[in-house]
Amino acid sequence: MNSFRRLEDAPNNVTALVRVDFNVPMQNGQISDDTRLRAALPTLKALMAKHCKAALLAHFDRPKGKRVPEMSLRRLAEPLSNLLGVPVAFADDCVGEAAKSAIDAAPAGGVILLENTRFHAGEEANDSALAGEMAALGQIYVNDAFSAAHRAHASTEGVAHMLPAYAGKQMERELDALDAALGNPKRPLLGVVGGAKVSTKLDLLENLIGKLDRLAIGGGMANTFLFAQGAEIGGSLAEKDMADKAREIIAAAKGKCELLLPLDVVVAKEVKPHAEARMCGLDEIQADEKILDVGERTIRHLREAMKHSHTLIWNGPLGVFETPPFDQGTVLAAQDAAELAKSGKLIAVAGGGDTVAALNHAGVAADFTFVSTAGGAFLEWMEGKALPGVEALKR
Ligand code: 3PG
Ligand code: MG
Repeated sequence: MNSFRRLEDAPNNVTALVRVDFNVPMQNGQISDDTRLRAALPTLKALMAKHCKAALLAHFDRPKGKRVPEMSLRRLAEPLSNLLGVPVAFADDCVGEAAKSAIDAAPAGGVILLENTRFHAGEEANDSALAGEMAALGQIYVNDAFSAAHRAHASTEGVAHMLPAYAGKQMERELDALDAALGNPKRPLLGVVGGAKVSTKLDLLENLIGKLDRLAIGGGMANTFLFAQGAEIGGSLAEKDMADKAREIIAAAKGKCELLLPLDVVVAKEVKPHAEARMCGLDEIQADEKILDVGERTIRHLREAMKHSHTLIWNGPLGVFETPPFDQGTVLAAQDAAELAKSGKLIAVAGGGDTVAALNHAGVAADFTFVSTAGGAFLEWMEGKALPGVEALKR
């Protein structure tokens, strides 16, 4: 983190263009999870204390360069204002006269939410003219959107080169936590990777086996590994054409990273809530059964691995956690990790898409050492890729 400018070093009484990630989940026009709004508060409060105006740049959904009224950020101004305890102005455009006059009208320390950056085609194209129009609105740029940092867009990358650029508080927290988890971890270091497909996580697995001491694999992707090792997996979801890749990963891990594959599984004939399910060994799966979760022996084995680790990094559920009873493996393993983290024995870091939902479902997200607000960005970072939004902040 030494190569970043921090907010503490930012000037007072200026207008800061602040990139936040307000791509929040919505249900029936209401925010269903305001984590990402809350994540921006420390940075906004720090800027208020410096009497800086904060003009917020953010995207919502994927309007593909057009004005899509349902994707307006306008409806987020009030919830943000309620969380901040001060009024939040809204500007109908993220650049030009509308943005400029809203910023001019705001008092020192005021917060102005600018309309969806992705209403402009230049945003995703990282068009320098658009970035220049953004830069013209303020004196400094603050990026607090780690979760959008895998995108090289005008508001996440281009504008960072046009103004003195600072890492926001949430950005700093994310980078510090990720560094503790994978950059500079206390070993032994254990990874838990789940999710449906090997094919979407190949880069991830290849990067992780070079860095971790142990890697537990669960979810649908574990079926592909079991199949590759000759198990009869019945009607389970698996990518049989990835069997060679799975064997390559197993071979590459030898002597470097211990792979923990399921030792037993929970199977059922169909994936539906409260379907009739049974736990069985790997050699007992019937042709008409599907593997939908990991079994008890596997969980015990994973718990032992956690106890013998200092750091855990977790991405992806171990079973079909949206459909009980196939949430049990994920819930129990998450509770084990949370308990160890709470008692200070394990640094437990998690992130990426379904992972946060799974930890919330298990009721343990707050007990993890750190849960990232990022989906795709977390995954790309775990894959060892440079994130353009982070790179652009480096001096
Ligand atoms: C996210 O929600 O993961 C980020 O805001 C990025 O959104 P995107 O996948 O639409 O670029
Ligand atoms: Mg996304």
